Amino acid sequence: MYAEVGMNAVDIADPTAGLYVRQPYESYSIENHETWRKLYQRLHPRWDRYANERFLAGIESLCLPQDRIPRLEDVNRFLSPLTGFRARAVSGYVPAFLFFDCLRNREFPTTVTIRPARRLDYLPEPDIFHDIAGHVPMHTDPHFAETLVRFGECAHTAAALVSEIRDPLERTRTLTSIFRAMARFFWFTIEFGLMRSRSRAGSSDALRVYGSGLLSSFGEIEHAVASPDVQRYPLQIEWAINQAFEIDHYQPLLFIVDSFDHLYSLVDELERWMKAGKLNHVAPGQPEVNEVDLKSFLEAGGGL
Ligand SMILES: [Fe+2]
Repeated sequence: MYAEVGMNAVDIADPTAGLYVRQPYESYSIENHETWRKLYQRLHPRWDRYANERFLAGIESLCLPQDRIPRLEDVNRFLSPLTGFRARAVSGYVPAFLFFDCLRNREFPTTVTIRPARRLDYLPEPDIFHDIAGHVPMHTDPHFAETLVRFGECAHTAAALVSEIRDPLERTRTLTSIFRAMARFFWFTIEFGLMRSRSRAGSSDALRVYGSGLLSSFGEIEHAVASPDVQRYPLQIEWAINQAFEIDHYQPLLFIVDSFDHLYSLVDELERWMKAGKLNHVAPGQPEVNEVDLKSFLEAGGGL
């Protein structure tokens, strides 16, 4: 079902057994902890300048250590009482439906490896810095947390809708389009979203970052807000779901939402569009949709 489970003890008491693993904390090297420290130290001043205020409040309330990789159990001790979310260790790729279903259950599949010290600036895959320092602080905000849960519910809606299509080829084609639309929406919001919001100092509204791909990138967080080379527009669903993106360079196009309530309402609308068939024929192009992700939705649809 997903790669590389096995190096760690699997929690067999859990219904998602096989997905979650124990964080192998004693396996982190001194260099691994030093990588975390460097990443945190470099990004901290940029968060103060460019990050959404809910993210900054989240960083504070999680009491993340600056000088070493956090233990997920420590993170969760602060996180769970706030929104019910928990960071749970995984050791590899999580198929898309399963990932969204975890969000629906207020669990965040969290990568426990950290990038190599020589690659501080860019890693295409998530690592623990991206997941814990980039994503999890946002999960302390109740409105944002509800949006993630809602996104997870949309995945269930998608699985149920396509399970009603009898022709297998048509079922796969439709699912590919719906999933591509969801992945694009997720990318342009949860991973790379911008919001017009107030700075902590109480100065006038400014563009701030809430997307985790930006929050965990020393170079791109500033580029996203300050560079004249980036197009920034109010988020429109019809645009985002048809807009291809590439992951191997700074994003040239970013979308702005007004608030997390606004974002939540857009996810609601995305689901209405899905039910109305308006995601069934989105523009082709990136992201590529892989068979493992499709299969995870089809299997879920069969069992719903
Ligand atoms: Fe991410």
